[in-house]
Amino acid sequence: MNPRERLASALPKAELHLHLEGTLEPEMTFHLARKHGVKLRFPDAPALRRAYDFQDLQSFLDLYYEGAAVLRDREDFRLLTLAYLEKAARDGVWHVEPFFDPQTHTARGVELREVVEGIVAGLHEGEKKHGISWRLIPCFLRHLSEEDAIRTLGELLPFKQHFVAMGLDSSEKGNPPAKFKKVFAQVRAAGLKVVAHAGEEGPAEFIREALQELQAVRIDHGVRCVEDPDLVRDLAHQRVPLTTCPLSNVRLCVYKNLSEHPLKKLLDAGVNATANSDDPPYFGGYLLENWLGCLRALDLQKHHLVQLAKNSFEGSFLPEKEKMKWFEKIERVAAASA
Ligand code: ADE
Ligand code: ZN
Repeated sequence: MNPRERLASALPKAELHLHLEGTLEPEMTFHLARKHGVKLRFPDAPALRRAYDFQDLQSFLDLYYEGAAVLRDREDFRLLTLAYLEKAARDGVWHVEPFFDPQTHTARGVELREVVEGIVAGLHEGEKKHGISWRLIPCFLRHLSEEDAIRTLGELLPFKQHFVAMGLDSSEKGNPPAKFKKVFAQVRAAGLKVVAHAGEEGPAEFIREALQELQAVRIDHGVRCVEDPDLVRDLAHQRVPLTTCPLSNVRLCVYKNLSEHPLKKLLDAGVNATANSDDPPYFGGYLLENWLGCLRALDLQKHHLVQLAKNSFEGSFLPEKEKMKWFEKIERVAAASA
């Protein structure tokens, strides 16, 4: 590793865009399939990994939902969460705000309690073992109806103490944020914050809509804002966090390669952009691989790396005092590097 790569590795980082179901490594998929007697249509883990060849978001989601069918009980969710935190710790991640998709599991007859309590047990264990703090965010699936989301919110509220926000994910095309205006008003009334995937495959207009109609305080992906210079200026001015996922964007053909990714442009424009891993085994890398990929392809400089690290904590739901502590730590690590 060269000095900039070593700095990328050493800087404390927060991961703000990560789907727990999207951390299923093929080996764990097969382990859980054997445990539950689930028949998979692939002969083994390498064959499943070879199928990770996507044309767009939908072609990925089809395989991602199929894979999630092996998650059946609380122990599966605990194991999945803990395995992710092991990798996050290795990458210098000290705070995580992962997503999960309740409807993917309740639609298969898995009790929500099993899902939530398994994930929370894994998060507590990871916190004890690796010192990683966390906030948890359930997401509504936007290809389903708002009525389904409203029903799901009702099922989630008894577990509200575990959640900081509600998110919106799945197929963006044809499912604008405004479709979920009513349910997110209920989310806010329940005292939870709002985040939303917008501007991944959908247009820049969906970012504005998520901010205005849902009152989202953080935008997941958001990369298509670059098509609207006025929007970029507003995002920078208001310091709205964008949780970009560079390797994901390349694997889902939003960009041909990382050198086309707008991360550096967004940082230079003063936008609170971060780099995250989304669904790491599916897209070829965990958080540090996303950072290193961008560092190399976009020739990120030391100040970009320091800004990315600070943005990740600034954009988190940690209290201000905690954020300050991380900013100081980041400054100390940067000062110590060549
Ligand atoms: N669910 C998991 N990963 C996703 C992504 N990149 N976009 C939308 N929904 C998702
Ligand atoms: Zn995502």
